[in-house]
Amino acid sequence: MNVLLIGGGGREHAMAWKIAQSSLLDELYVSPGNPGTVRHGRSVELDLSDQEKLRAFLLEKSISIIVVGPEGPLVDGLHDRIAADMALEGKVTVIGPRQKGAQLEGSKDFAKEFMFRHNIPTAAHRSFGKGQLKEALEHLEKIQSPYVVKADGLAAGKGVVICNDRKEAGKVVKEMLEGGRFGAAGERVVIEQFLNGVELSAFLITDGDAFKMLPAAKDYKRIGVGDTGPNTGGMGAVSPVPFADKAFMQKVHDRIAAPTIRGLKKDGIPYSGFLFIGLMNVNNEPYVIEYNVRLGDPETQAILPRLRSDLLDLFEGIATGTLSERHVDVDDRTAVTVVLANEGYPDSYGTGKPIIGLEQVREAYVFQSGTVQNGDRLETAGGRVLSVTAFGKDLEQAIMAAQRSAALIQYDGKYIRPDIGLDLVKQPSTRNAPPAPVK
Ligand code: AMP
Ligand code: GLY
Repeated sequence: MNVLLIGGGGREHAMAWKIAQSSLLDELYVSPGNPGTVRHGRSVELDLSDQEKLRAFLLEKSISIIVVGPEGPLVDGLHDRIAADMALEGKVTVIGPRQKGAQLEGSKDFAKEFMFRHNIPTAAHRSFGKGQLKEALEHLEKIQSPYVVKADGLAAGKGVVICNDRKEAGKVVKEMLEGGRFGAAGERVVIEQFLNGVELSAFLITDGDAFKMLPAAKDYKRIGVGDTGPNTGGMGAVSPVPFADKAFMQKVHDRIAAPTIRGLKKDGIPYSGFLFIGLMNVNNEPYVIEYNVRLGDPETQAILPRLRSDLLDLFEGIATGTLSERHVDVDDRTAVTVVLANEGYPDSYGTGKPIIGLEQVREAYVFQSGTVQNGDRLETAGGRVLSVTAFGKDLEQAIMAAQRSAALIQYDGKYIRPDIGLDLVKQPSTRNAPPAPVK
């Protein structure tokens, strides 16, 4: 099988690494790829909006699978364009939904209406378009703080504002609806009920009929220690997540994953590929915060090393509509991923600093994101530079191994959250507590 992987971040490095292990693989191409993916596949520069050139490439290289890492190309209709191209008919399978299905991520309003229609637990909401500022402000008067205000469209993970103060919330709504904040993405706003709980990222893969749950992970979104400071793309991940035990994941399967796949079918929305369900655990009950139509970054770097099954076998299951016959086999050890970021991220940061020490990492996987190869020098080129994933026989061991390995890598401005996973470690006082007296 010849595969084209779209993307160039840490998620795609982990995907390329995993795909390259498949006995079903002949050639892997990654567009644009990064200095990490070149070890697993050839980098190619493809303009996805140039259908003629893309078609010529797919035919010349006999690509049968296109895996789309980020949501952008899916929301832009890449899958639809490939499916409508007569010259590619029956030759290429896209792993990722069509434009309509991608609206689950591309429009929060669409996603909320979908969940409402199919009885999928999520925060109560109202949405308001341009010209409805007055109604939106009146709605804020009726609800309790904290206020959750979301731009409807894609806003690079920054379109959610949570405020305690009603005036402040009103200002944000006004800025979105009338002030152009988040551009077109903010021309419609969703105001929703605040969910108080712990977040979890659940993942599944589907051919539209059958679906298989993939390992779940916890992401650390804030930049600062103790979940403080601004939101980022993600500063680390842990998989599995101790509180997402069998009973909880069964609820996620039965009340959220299964009705979502059934709902898509019922609505006549063909959907294949990955689905990332951002969840809030509220008193042991799962609620959907958001859908993403892709895998997460850095969650992928924690979950793919745990996946024992062949990823291409699962993709083949999608291509042939036989996913129900394929197996997802998971390593039960804990994987911890820490992101090595750049000082200043998620705002401005410097680039072009040499990175050293990668070859010293022996007990972890290193995935590259914001890096560039400059001659024989690897240099920083992004806000999130690298991620390091380590296994451990328990969570504490995995945390220590990941931090030890991350410490071996050096560059100017390196920033790591030192507390990834620590919130999930049982308090030493309970762990070492004497056994309860026998009555
Ligand atoms: P989203 O882009 O929808 O994932 O939202 C970004 C972040 O905002 C989430 O990861 C949550 O931490 C937070 N968030 C979103 N919606 C809610 C909600 N209804 N209640 C509480 N926190 C939320
Ligand atoms: N880590 C969260 C995301 O990929 O959206």
